Amino acid sequence: MPQVLRFSEVVVRRNARDIIDHLEWSVADDERWVILGPNGAGKTTVLQLADTLIHPSAGVVEILGERLGRTDVFELRPRIGFASSAMARRLPPEETVLNVVLTAAYSVTGRWNEQYEDIDERRALRVLAEWKLDHLADRTFGTLSDGEQKRVQIARAVMTDPELLLLDEPSASLDLGAREELLALLGGYAQAPTTPAMIMVTHHVEEIPIGFTHVLLLRDGQAVAAGPIAEALTAENLTETFGLTIQLTEDAGRYSARAIA
Ligand SMILES: Nc1ncnc2c1ncn2[C@@H]1O[C@H](COP(=O)(O)OP(=O)(O)OP(=O)(O)O)[C@@H](O)[C@H]1O
Ligand SMILES: [Mg+2]
Repeated sequence: MPQVLRFSEVVVRRNARDIIDHLEWSVADDERWVILGPNGAGKTTVLQLADTLIHPSAGVVEILGERLGRTDVFELRPRIGFASSAMARRLPPEETVLNVVLTAAYSVTGRWNEQYEDIDERRALRVLAEWKLDHLADRTFGTLSDGEQKRVQIARAVMTDPELLLLDEPSASLDLGAREELLALLGGYAQAPTTPAMIMVTHHVEEIPIGFTHVLLLRDGQAVAAGPIAEALTAENLTETFGLTIQLTEDAGRYSARAIA
C-alpha cells in the first residue's frame, strides 16, 4: 500500500526544547490512525506537520510523496483535509452551514463573490447528508450546538475529497449521545473503501471509533508505541504513555481505560 505520510527522525524544537523528539512513523493509504497521549505530548504538533502548517527543525517529513521543504505547500494543502477547534474558530458564525462546507472547495472560509458550480453544491449537499447535517443546511454556523459544529467541520474537511484526513479531537466537549453519534459516523466513514487515510487525535481510548486500525502513543514528543491497535494498544503501553498504572478493557471493538492503584 502506498505511504501517505512518512516521518524520519523528525524533530520540532521550540524554546530549546524538542517538542517532537526524533519521531519515526509512517502511514499507509488504507490505514486509520488514532494518536493518544497526555496534554502537551505533541499530538497537535504532529498534525500541524502532516498539514504542512509547520516544518520540522530536523529530519524529514514526506506527505503524499512530497518532501516538506522541497515542495510547494500550496499545491499540497488542498489534498489534505484538517478539522480542529482552532480551524473552527476561523469559520464565520453568520455563514450558513451549506456555505461553510461549500466554500472549502475554494479554500476560503466565507462566501463572497465566487461563482459556485452546481456540481460543487450537489457535492456539498451529499456530504451534509453523509454527516447527518442536511436538515441544518440553511442554519447559520454560529447557532449550531457543539456536536453539530464538529460534524460541520468534518464535512468541510472531506468536501474537497482529500487524500489524507486529519482530525484533532473531534469528539472533545460532546455529551454522551453526541459523542456516540459522531463515533458511529466516523466508524462508518473509516470502514468505507473509498475513504482516505485518516489520523485522529483523541484523549480517550473510549473515543476510538470501530474501523480505526492503528495507534500512535506519544509521550514528550516520542513514540511509546506505534502499530496495529491489537498490538500497540496495551495496558502496559498506556501505563508508560500516561505515567500511571492503567487497566484496559475491550468489548466488541470499543475500549475503556482506568487508573488502578
Ligand atoms: N510555538 C510554540 N512555542 C513553544 N512551545 C510550544 C509551541 N507549540 C507547542 N509548544 C509546546 O509543545 C508541547 C506540545 O504541544 P501540542 O499542542 O502538540 O500538544 P498536544 O499533545 O496536542 O496537547 P493537548 O492534548 O493539550 O492538545 C506543549 O508543551 C506546548 O506547550
Ligand atoms: Mg492538542
